[in-house]
Amino acid sequence: MDFTLLDTLTQTFGPSGYEEEIRAAIESIIEPMADEVRTDRLGSLIGVRAGTGADGQRKKLLLAAHMDEIGLMVTHIEKNGFVRFTTIGGVRPVNCIGGRARFANGVGGTISVEYREDSSKLPEIAHLYMDVGATGREDCPVTVGSTAVFVGPLIQQGTRLISKTLDDRIGCYVLIEVMRRLQHSKYDVFFAFTTQEEITLSGARTAAYRIDPDLAISVDVTTTGDVPKALPMEVSLGKGPAIKVKDSGMIAHPLIRDLLTQAAEQADVPYQLEILLGGSTDAAAMQLVRSGIPSGCLSVPCRYVHTPAEMVDANDVENAIELLLTLLSAS
Ligand code: CO
Ligand code: ZN
Repeated sequence: MDFTLLDTLTQTFGPSGYEEEIRAAIESIIEPMADEVRTDRLGSLIGVRAGTGADGQRKKLLLAAHMDEIGLMVTHIEKNGFVRFTTIGGVRPVNCIGGRARFANGVGGTISVEYREDSSKLPEIAHLYMDVGATGREDCPVTVGSTAVFVGPLIQQGTRLISKTLDDRIGCYVLIEVMRRLQHSKYDVFFAFTTQEEITLSGARTAAYRIDPDLAISVDVTTTGDVPKALPMEVSLGKGPAIKVKDSGMIAHPLIRDLLTQAAEQADVPYQLEILLGGSTDAAAMQLVRSGIPSGCLSVPCRYVHTPAEMVDANDVENAIELLLTLLSAS
């Protein structure tokens, strides 16, 4: 595990729509590994590796991992300097309370909840506020529209990794490692680090339109069924990457599902089949561009998705990399 790389990826600022910093960080990492690197008009970063077959004969394979992250956006600043906010992506209010947020300009804030007559009900976002140390609107260091992300450092305990934003910087990590280790492929491989997955999937949609691939695979996280009173689900942490069969946004194309399954068997890595009841990925958008792109998804099992302390298993990450390398290198 390249801890330093994952640390950079998870800790670099990049809520949906504000991906400049994370894009610059990834661009400098992939530059030496790509034949060509470009940024499209909605900000997705695409690294291209040409395949080995004859020109005009090669298929185009798009691998996508989203580089944006969930976050918060300031909606209103109160007279006494307290900051009200809305969510960027699927942020549950209960997961914010007691946490810290960090803005692009480095300002930090503590997130709390107002007193409520009936505290037996879960709070809504309108009940929360952020304290950035201001005493009024005048000395408040953030403005309406400022965006913030959670604070949650990366730590490793045994094979488990805990951090903010493993969704989906762990997918970015997988793409970078595949790019680093890939020697040759019959495909022209497009490594796309997409924008705005957490709100509209728009980065992947436009990237896929321009690339017009023959097949597309997103690499993202999936929840698991192995925590106390979890919604029953087959996927567990540490039992291998999960090959998506269905989620709430799509049915994975059988061709892609089978390609991934065959690659797992050929690579001799453990894998799981994923049916995710709530949530989707870039693949749902990619399959709908032009006249349709056969699309699927390889997932890294992840506990506590969309909290400041998400958890994955390093073995699942390594096995996802091995699986994809086998798929891309197959003759
Ligand atoms: Co997400
Ligand atoms: Zn994700």
